[in-house]
Amino acid sequence: MTDENIIISKGLEGIYIADTTLCKIDGANGKLWYRGYPIEVLADKSSYEEVAFLLLYGHLPKKEELKVFTQRLISERDVPDSIADIIRNFTGRTHPNDILRTCVSAISAFDTDMADRSSDANMDRAIKLTAKMPTIVAMIGRYRQGKPFINPSRTLSHSSNFLYMLTGVEPDKESAKLIDLMFILHAEHGSNASTFSTLVTGSTLADVYAAVVAGISTLRGPLHGGADEAALNMMRAIGEPDNTETYIEDALAGKQRIMGFGHRVYKAYDPRAKIVYNYLKSFMQKTTDPKIEKLLEIAIRAEKLMEEKLSKTKGIWPNIDFFSGPLYTAMGIPSELFTPVFACSRVVGWTAHLFEYWENNRLFRPLDHYTGQLDIKYVPIEQR
Ligand code: SDX
Repeated sequence: MTDENIIISKGLEGIYIADTTLCKIDGANGKLWYRGYPIEVLADKSSYEEVAFLLLYGHLPKKEELKVFTQRLISERDVPDSIADIIRNFTGRTHPNDILRTCVSAISAFDTDMADRSSDANMDRAIKLTAKMPTIVAMIGRYRQGKPFINPSRTLSHSSNFLYMLTGVEPDKESAKLIDLMFILHAEHGSNASTFSTLVTGSTLADVYAAVVAGISTLRGPLHGGADEAALNMMRAIGEPDNTETYIEDALAGKQRIMGFGHRVYKAYDPRAKIVYNYLKSFMQKTTDPKIEKLLEIAIRAEKLMEEKLSKTKGIWPNIDFFSGPLYTAMGIPSELFTPVFACSRVVGWTAHLFEYWENNRLFRPLDHYTGQLDIKYVPIEQR
């Protein structure tokens, strides 16, 4: 390959890395399917437990399968005592997402047989992490609020149990539906940066924990899973709805990125953002919290302005991270937990892609194009 015909794809834009049956994204038309099911149908009719089973096992569960899977998740919700010690030692100095990745690393120390790399053992690890990560994130949230940890429920659904362990209150029907919707919408999204990171780690035949820690770490950045926290911080910085247009216009004039907008694949409205927005609007009709109402008004005015300024001209539309913040806030989830909550949901997508890739594994080892000098004469330090 001579230098002339080397093509560098920055950020691997447009490069396919594998075949998959997990997720299809139609970026031009803003459509999304998990294992062939439209995201709108799963959002309305399914549950996170059912979607997790669908992604991990490849089909919607029968009643008995779902019952067994749900029981497995419930039975694995507890975490070792040492996790509480890590949370106590790290909180206050470290972002919750970074504490989460540390705790997931620690969980691997309790694995009974790390040498067992069978599919059953790996699926077991995926189920354990899916069950335990919400407990860890809720514990981090409780500790940051100076409140005692709450033991996992044995009866609440996966996502409701998370909200219960964080707030101490069993969510009402509306909140239970909303948090489960958010878990479903964040569960999987093709070869996004954190999933790709999981695959790169797994492609060396490192273990499930190492691959998930890579995913959690990668998710942290504001260009990816950190955008929901950054978008809410922007709405808070805007403060009053009437400041919205000036703030956005100044930011764009200063070549700043508006968090929660734009996407490498979607050049249309992110279908997940549409779903969140619609549920948020109906939720807002029932709440009278002026703080939340203000956030939503700012979000709606920002979306309208961005649509005029960038969406139609540059294909920069709201993504899932834009409306998530006001909705999570309305449910009592603090903004520093948004990305860890995203990780709690996406762990199923990460591990499902990992297991699919391991069926036909190949080490990821791209090339880079050397543009420096060669065979430079080494000059001893005395003569430099
Ligand atoms: C997620 O990949 C996935 O699937 C991710 C995800 C998932 O479920 O896993 O969907 C979750 O990460 C959603 C994205 C969350 N990130 C943000 O909201 C951060 C803000 N958005 C961007 O920084 C940006 O849109 C990216 C990073 C998401 C995508 O950027 P690209 O494809 O690398 O595009 P780019 O950075 O090359 O931008 C192209 C142009 C640039 O302008 P020019 O230099 O050509 O003049 O569009 C502009 C950018 O400045 N642009 C924006 C913008 N996003 C892109 N301008 C203002 N605000 C923005 N948000």
